[in-house]
Amino acid sequence: MEKNICLLPGDGIGPEILAQGVRLLEACASKFGHRFTFTNALLGGAAIDATGNPLPDETIRACQKADAVFLAAVGGPKWDNLPPEQRPERGLLGIRKALGLFANLRPAMLLPELAGACLLRADIASRGLDLIVVRELTGDIYFGEPRGRDIRDGLRVGYNTMIYNEVEVRRIATVAFETARKRRKKVCSVEKSNVLETSRLWKEVVVETHKQYSDVELTHLYVDNAAMQLVRDPSQFDVILTGNIFGDILSDEASVITGSLGMLPSASLGDSGPGLFEPIHGSAPDISGQDKANPLATILSAALMLRLGFDMGEEAAAIEQAVRKTLADGFRTADIMESGKTLVGCKEMGSRVLERL
Ligand code: IPM
Ligand code: MG
Repeated sequence: MEKNICLLPGDGIGPEILAQGVRLLEACASKFGHRFTFTNALLGGAAIDATGNPLPDETIRACQKADAVFLAAVGGPKWDNLPPEQRPERGLLGIRKALGLFANLRPAMLLPELAGACLLRADIASRGLDLIVVRELTGDIYFGEPRGRDIRDGLRVGYNTMIYNEVEVRRIATVAFETARKRRKKVCSVEKSNVLETSRLWKEVVVETHKQYSDVELTHLYVDNAAMQLVRDPSQFDVILTGNIFGDILSDEASVITGSLGMLPSASLGDSGPGLFEPIHGSAPDISGQDKANPLATILSAALMLRLGFDMGEEAAAIEQAVRKTLADGFRTADIMESGKTLVGCKEMGSRVLERL
């Protein structure tokens, strides 16, 4: 198959980790007889420096033309003092919105090879952790209007609007139920319906949508309870269905308890058009350019691109197996280092995976 992939290296460790993901994609293409071509585009701080805009129109066009978008990370202290609409993060939110990527899938699992890095007590970890957060990505308080800063009664105020319409909730709920059907058939919908009107609508629509999915078990948790249950007993979760802001928070929590943010990939999908694949971690400016970053979340995001973007399940599994073999053989970047293992840098980790593909 021929596929065009738009690369958005972004900022910080972005270019280093993306390079390793691209190496793996290229190796995969030649192993399985595909042809992948790559285009580069600017996003985030890199785009601000070059054009003054975190999301240039050219980048949107390049992404729209591609079969998939492969993104590393954006942001850094250099751009921290810019007003919100000019920050690198706005580029990331803007490209999600422009491509209609309303469904963000964030799997978190405990690899047996990394059991020692898990932050949970051994008796809790031994029950297992294999879940996926299905996060709504183009609505909620991230995009709700009105938003802004003002002076009211002589005081500075800031405000945002948490809002969902029923179509937005139904389509993400559908993704969650469909996802659950391919897994352990359990969906837990997370909201705050004891306080928020938005959440009451959310719950109502999720329950309605569930009527078409009676083979899937549906439960509900308030977000505070869900945050607690995630560390108390994550084995109870299969698919966590939630909105944009709660999903942002819970997916970081779900991933870090597995041992490292540096391990987890994500996929953002819309109704049609290219999907976007990116590690869930940030641009780690503190270690940027030092060849220390963990490229595995990016490499695993490439695997998700193959499976979900190009329907290449066998190719995806080959990359995932190469990653696990590399870990089983004892290679570790600094973030997941344990005594008795071999410390490697970003590039060498890429090479070790490559030679096991
Ligand atoms: C994420 C990130 C982004 C988000 C930021 C960088 C805008 O935290 O992808 O989880 O909040 O969605
Ligand atoms: Mg986040």
